[in-house]
This record gives sequence, C-alpha cells and structure tokens, in this order.
Amino acid sequence: MLKSHDPANKDRFAATLRTLRLMLGLLLLIVSLSCAREKVVSSCTDETGIYTYAAYPIGTAIDYEALRNDSTYRNLAIRQFNSFTPENIFKAEYLHPAEGVFHWTEADSFVNFCLANNKRLHGHTLVWHNQLPAWMSNYRGTAAEWEQLLKVHIQTIVSHFNQSVTAWDVVNEAFNEDGTLRNSIWKQKIGPGYIEKAFRFAQEANPHALLFYNDYNLESNPVKRKSVLALLNTLKSRGISVHGIGVQMHISTTYPEPSQIAEAFQEITSNHYLLHVSEFDIAVNPQGKTLSSGTSFFSAQAQRLGSVVSHYNQVAKRYQYGITFWGISDKNSWIRSFYNRQDYPLLFDDMYLPKPAYCTLIQTL
Ligand code: G3I
Repeated sequence: MLKSHDPANKDRFAATLRTLRLMLGLLLLIVSLSCAREKVVSSCTDETGIYTYAAYPIGTAIDYEALRNDSTYRNLAIRQFNSFTPENIFKAEYLHPAEGVFHWTEADSFVNFCLANNKRLHGHTLVWHNQLPAWMSNYRGTAAEWEQLLKVHIQTIVSHFNQSVTAWDVVNEAFNEDGTLRNSIWKQKIGPGYIEKAFRFAQEANPHALLFYNDYNLESNPVKRKSVLALLNTLKSRGISVHGIGVQMHISTTYPEPSQIAEAFQEITSNHYLLHVSEFDIAVNPQGKTLSSGTSFFSAQAQRLGSVVSHYNQVAKRYQYGITFWGISDKNSWIRSFYNRQDYPLLFDDMYLPKPAYCTLIQTL
C-alpha cells in the first residue's frame, strides 16, 4: 500500500503518471497514423488483376533486379499486368558493353520469364542518346562505319530475341521540343537519316515485329508531335515499317490538360499509328515541395488517371496497343531519384498497396 504522505512515494506516483501519459500519447499517435494509413490505402482490393478488366494490354516497366530479388514485386507484376517493358536491361549499355561483345544473360532470363508467364514483351529501346556504353560514345569512325555500328547493334539484338519480342521502341526521344531533330550522337555521326536506317535495319532483322517511335511530351506539345508525324509518314511513304507511336505520358496532376491529351490521341490515330501509352506515371509533386501526409493529391491523381483512360478507351480498337505504367510501386519510380524529390507517381504505394488511382483504373477500363 503506498503511504500517501511520504515525499518519495509522491515522486514515484508522479513518475508513474508521466509514464502512463507518455504511453497513452504514443498509443494515440500509432492509432492516428494507422488511420491516416487506412485513408491512403484504396477502398478497393483486387485479386484478378488490372489487365482482366481491359480490352487492351496493361503493362509495366520491369526493374530486373526487383523482379529477381523481391517476391512481392514479382507476384504483383505477374498478377496485375500482361505486358512487360524492360526498364533498363535492353538498353545499349547493358546488351552491347564492348565493340563486338553482346551480353545476354539477364535479358534472356527476362525473356524466359515473360514467356513462362505469358506476358507480351515490348522491347525498349534500340536507338537512344542515353545509356550508351563508353566504347560507343567514344567510337571514332566515318559516317559509313557509324552506320555499320548501328546496323550491327540493331540487327544482332533484334535477331537474337526474334519473335519473343512483340514490338520494339526502335528510336527513342529523337526530337527537340521545337520540332527539330535532337543533335544526338547518332545524328552527328550518321546524319538525320539515321532514323530511317534504324527502322529499316529493324524491319530487315524481324519483319514480324511491330516497330515504334517513342518520345515524351507528345501528349502536350503539338509542334513536336507534328514533326514526329511528318517524319514517320515520310518513312512509311518510302515503304519503311513504322507501326506505332509511344506517347510516354510522364504527366502530373496539374499538366497537361486532359483535352490536350485527347487531341494528341486523336491526331496520332488519325495518322493510322498504333497508340502506346508507353511510360505512364502521374507525378503528384512536380514542384518538388515538402509534402505533408494527406490524401488530396492521391484523389487528384486518381481523377487525372481516370480522364486519361477514358480518352484512351475512345480510341479506335485497332489502334489500342495498350497502356504501360513506368513502374509498379512508388518506391521503384525513376522520378524520385532523377528529380531527387518526394513523389508518388504510380498505382501502388511503397508498401505495394493499391492507391486510389488503382481503383479508378479498374473502374474505368
Ligand atoms: O545499373 C546501375 C547499378 O549497377 C548502380 O549500382 C546504380 C547506382 O549508380 O546505377 C544503376 O544504373 C541506373 C539504372 O537506371 C538502373 O537502375 C542508372 O544510374 C540510372 O540512371 C538509370 O535510370 C534509368 C533512366 O531511364 C536512365 O536515363 C531509369 O531507371 C529508367 O526508368 C529511365 O527510363 C527512361 C526511359 O528509358 C526513356 N524515357 C524516359 C525514362 C525516364 O528517364
């Protein structure tokens, strides 16, 4: 029995009271955070997977290391998506590390994984100004030697994978925002005709593959889009196979307007190209602010996704190549590292839980 008048007892009682108050505060904090967590997690759950709701493929960029090492990531990829785009391992720095040397190990393992799980494989990307191996960037040769380098690169890779790859992003990001050609190493060394040559080399190596041009801001920049269309239409008039256009769609909750996106979809399909929303993500923090936990930007993200998918649903079926997200979980997104900012651009959160955008997607498809 505690003696009520003993000062030592009073101190013990006060300390006990402080401890109890601290524990109660911690408990309330945990409860409030878990409630906040509940608010972020979507109201829907799904066992069957996004693509079972769609009339066209629903894809994702695949981070090969995550696919190999993270079973949650791997199982989610298999269950939710039916088209895979290698985020990095089909790029020149991985497949063609030295002159005359090709490296197939990881890429072949990825191809086998796609085949074993019946996933469409969209090859990304044969010709780009980024992620080139050092030997290629430093290569010294005549225009004819550079053209031969490009031909060997493209035809070795396309022939190696043959028909396990349904389609290729043959050329990626070759135009500037003002509609002129990017002064990439390929344009500098071979001339503006490198684009036509690249598509011809790919077509010769695999006449069955669907060949795409892929770029960003095509959904928001009509000047760039018209230049792309003008070039591709010229190639087609010369008998070069160009089947589709990848509109990357790295957009945000505030830009561009849905009407701009609808206009882009209409212009591309009225030029008779397959339309691939090829690298879809919706940044919620484009200004790089410090975000407080909340959900308003998640509902804005869901709303913007819904409007894009609604517009895509209205595209003529023969042009619906599909929608590919550029990653599965926010924690895998290129945006966080590239811009070094907080952002939550994808369908699943850092714990691989579906976000409101996920629910809107399966309700809109
Ligand atoms: O593989 C190395 C690893 O060995 C090293 O430890 C690590 C840390 O330095 O870097 C790893 O390479 C990184 C690579 O992603 C694989 O994770 C590169 O630094 C990093 O630059 C590279 O970023 C990729 C980026 O393209 C390169 O420009 C992103 O993952 C990828 O999402 C992004 O994708 C592009 C599309 O291909 C084209 N459209 C734009 C899109 C976003 O930039």
